[in-house]
Amino acid sequence: MAKIVGGIGCSHVPAVGAASDFGKTKDSYWTPLFDALPKARKWINDLRPDVVILVYNDHASAFSLELIPTFAIGTADLFKPADEGYGPRDVPDVKGHSALAWHIAESCILDEFDLTIANHMDVDHGCTVPLTVFFDQPEEWPVKVIPLCVNVIQFPPPTANRCFNLGQAIQRAVESFPEDLRVVVAGTGGMSHQLQGERAGVVNTEFDLTYLDNLIDNNEVNRKMSHLEFIREAGSEGIEMVMWQIMRGSLDDQVEEKFRKYHVASSNTAFGIICLENKTV
Ligand code: DHB
Ligand code: FE
Repeated sequence: MAKIVGGIGCSHVPAVGAASDFGKTKDSYWTPLFDALPKARKWINDLRPDVVILVYNDHASAFSLELIPTFAIGTADLFKPADEGYGPRDVPDVKGHSALAWHIAESCILDEFDLTIANHMDVDHGCTVPLTVFFDQPEEWPVKVIPLCVNVIQFPPPTANRCFNLGQAIQRAVESFPEDLRVVVAGTGGMSHQLQGERAGVVNTEFDLTYLDNLIDNNEVNRKMSHLEFIREAGSEGIEMVMWQIMRGSLDDQVEEKFRKYHVASSNTAFGIICLENKTV
């Protein structure tokens, strides 16, 4: 049977992708972040994942404001990097796992989570930047990727609690897939940041570090947090952190932290990555 072997929370700051794409990772601005990543990459590599379910938000690239699915699962075998205005990133195409994606769609919908099915979808920095963080610059991404898109762009986004519950439904779905696949679930976005308006540039380190700590052994607090609280404490785009709850919900109650890096600032944003595994008894 398939099983979830790890969970990752990770920011998806576009400037991190650009730093990698344009050879800037050794610049002094970027070394505090990029020098920390080999350890995370080794942990991921050692897990030998076959598939990453990559939870992210589309930033009006694949979906315009004409159509806003709350949750959309990519069921295709191929997803092209989206053109976000500067041409698509020069990174490998993202290869899907259609059979597992359809199984998750069926299982979740029958479990009363009505996912939108995306048979064709370009993937923007929300999806491709975490892949760079996890895998650096390979010729081909070393895993199949199931993109799971969440609306955090247009009010009302789903609650953190709804996201957590979807994560639990995804765990049930994965664990009922008959093939022996090793699956990692990644929740992306955040951490605290606001890109617009009077509070543009907001970063709240205390909030972010508490959110990371609580993922381990006090996630009820994160899960019950309201939209207002996320936005007040972590800025308008800090709401992206609800997506980490899908990752957290897909793991067991008891988890162990295997890696963490938190760095301010990466462009306008607090960058965070945390790697989790189910605790073995
Ligand atoms: C930026 C954009 C994002 O989508 C994000 O999550 C963080 C930062 C940016 O434009 O800097
Ligand atoms: Fe974002």
